[in-house]
Amino acid sequence: MKIGIDLLHFATADYYLGLDTFATEKHLDVDKFYIGIGQEKMSISPPDEDVVTLAAKAAAPILDQIDANEISAILFATETGVDQSKSAGVFLHGLLNLSKHCRVIEFKHACYAGAAALQMATTMVRANPKEKVLVIAADIAKYDIDSSGEATQGCGAVAMLVTASPRIIMIEPGSGYFTDDVMDFWRPNQRTTALVDGKYSTKVYLSSLKQTWDHFTEQTGRTFEDIDYFCYHIPFTKMAEKAHQTLVRKVGATLTPAEFEAQTVPSQFYNRIVGNSYSASLFMSFISLLDHIESNIENKRISFFSYGSGCVAEFFTGIMQPGYQSVLMTAEHKQKIAQRTALTYAQYLEFYYQAEQLEENIVYEPKNRGAYRLAGIENYKRYYQKNKPES
Ligand code: HMG
Repeated sequence: MKIGIDLLHFATADYYLGLDTFATEKHLDVDKFYIGIGQEKMSISPPDEDVVTLAAKAAAPILDQIDANEISAILFATETGVDQSKSAGVFLHGLLNLSKHCRVIEFKHACYAGAAALQMATTMVRANPKEKVLVIAADIAKYDIDSSGEATQGCGAVAMLVTASPRIIMIEPGSGYFTDDVMDFWRPNQRTTALVDGKYSTKVYLSSLKQTWDHFTEQTGRTFEDIDYFCYHIPFTKMAEKAHQTLVRKVGATLTPAEFEAQTVPSQFYNRIVGNSYSASLFMSFISLLDHIESNIENKRISFFSYGSGCVAEFFTGIMQPGYQSVLMTAEHKQKIAQRTALTYAQYLEFYYQAEQLEENIVYEPKNRGAYRLAGIENYKRYYQKNKPES
């Protein structure tokens, strides 16, 4: 039985900070960002945007195309949780008015949680092929001002409908996985921003890739040559490039620069202008591949490398399904990204600090132009609002 992703859509914030603006503010050469880490823009969420509203924006266009009452579970992956107890998915469930006969749970392990949720969803559908599972990966990447991570912020949410007989990609059974208790990136409970040992984190990312690759080949018998396109977790696009170089060197493949580019560059376009979206980033990289590749890639094999600091990693593959192009939402993705408003550095700081104010009672000024927004907090209870459609 084929199981995998039937529909796929992503959303990001309505605002961005250009790394040219950032470089000017910090008196740095912009090429450190454009070339050095391969990033141009970071999506910045206003205070009335959180992972629930991002997730709702990502999921709504999928639900519009199906009978939403058939969703049997929401698996919500995030490391930007909105409550220590209640899962973000239950807020989403309410906002989207889904069936009460639905299970909802939050998944966490840094950027790895999205891959974990996707694998869990395929297992649920294998056990009961009638299930339609909504997998959400949504995060807001936030670091301290003037820290090394500040240039690698961003935000986004990917919604994936996981079913039997999927129209986009069948996820293949068998994967390579790896866990090691390391402190490369973490966010203690009392902090709204992550702490990171930046250079060390890039080393652990690459060593985890090698470990998962070995395990993947042992488990599946597949080789480098069996894979047509490679999608990576992308904290910044240079990391994906280094990852692919590492893998190519490890397997001893000889690729021309054009072959190297074709295997991995189309998956990097969105991440370059959105920034890190943690658990969503790997799937945004997959969507970037689908939205930018000109040829038809039916029946081609795609690999996915998920890396979550701390660390847990997994390498797995899927096969593109015949007719997949007819269900892609490429135009919507491109339009939403293009419609974002540029922020000055001062406006970015205003959003940054306002979002830190987690008071008992607060009413947020409407800045989020999406269909759903966080309207405020009353007696510590978050409340959301459906925006009127833009005329
Ligand atoms: P940094 O100190 O800001 O930058 O840290 P740098 O001085 O190392 O420069 C970066 C690159 O730009 C270097 O190239 C420079 O040579 C080059 P490299 O040696 O890496 O090849 N460069 C230039 N190139 C052209 N023109 C110039 C120029 N100047 C410099 N003028 C760092 C960079 C990535 C460490 C920092 O941004 C950071 O700490 N980021 C956050 C951590 C991170 O993203 N880690 C990635 C792996 S861990 C991960 O992916 C998990 C994560 O998503 C979290 C989760 O799992 O939840 C983060």
